[in-house]
Amino acid sequence: MTQVLLGTKNPGKIAEALDILSGLPGIRWRTHPDCPFADVEETGSTFLENALLKATAIGRETGLPVLSEDAGLEVPALGGEPGVRSARYSGEPVDVPRNNALLLERLSGADDRQARFVAVAALWLPDGQAFVCSGVLHGRIAESPRGCGGFGYDPLFVPAGAAKTLAEMTLAEKNAISHRRRAIGRMRAILADLLASGELSGG
Ligand code: IMP
Repeated sequence: MTQVLLGTKNPGKIAEALDILSGLPGIRWRTHPDCPFADVEETGSTFLENALLKATAIGRETGLPVLSEDAGLEVPALGGEPGVRSARYSGEPVDVPRNNALLLERLSGADDRQARFVAVAALWLPDGQAFVCSGVLHGRIAESPRGCGGFGYDPLFVPAGAAKTLAEMTLAEKNAISHRRRAIGRMRAILADLLASGELSGG
């Protein structure tokens, strides 16, 4: 069995990733806190940079193949904001209702309320190889928050073709279409290929 470490400390993300990645024969998934690692500062200016930064740093620290992910919201009418600053859009400490209020304030009166969630998954191998996959969920920002499921900007995000916000959907409904599912789902195919070639186990 080849061990691969999930490079996140967020229990929700761990559960979602394991659900998407289940059934890949030959991989034993390792997770925090059973396999501990230090926090990595997200100093990159893109989701891609931050996902690779985390996978590389945690991989070098633990010596294991690492799968990391970075995600956020992009609003074209705001020049792509909040982007990589999604978690801390309205400043420190992280405050989700304040972030959502700031987003609504900045979009007040705007005709163009298009938005997209972006996720980038990065896989780093001890031999130095790295792989990245993206996933996008298109939608628009509602006029006011609705629903109490999910997290972050979910009460404000209405996926394209849907009437409900992500926070009004069940977890299964959200996970079936999410940016994160798309990014990690694509990485699943790469992992299967690396397993077949023996590269994941260093062969
Ligand atoms: P992270 O780096 O993947 O934890 O995401 C950074 C921030 O982006 C989160 O704190 C949220 O504000 C926002 N975000 C990312 N994915 C989602 C999502 O699926 N729903 C709502 N907000 C999200």
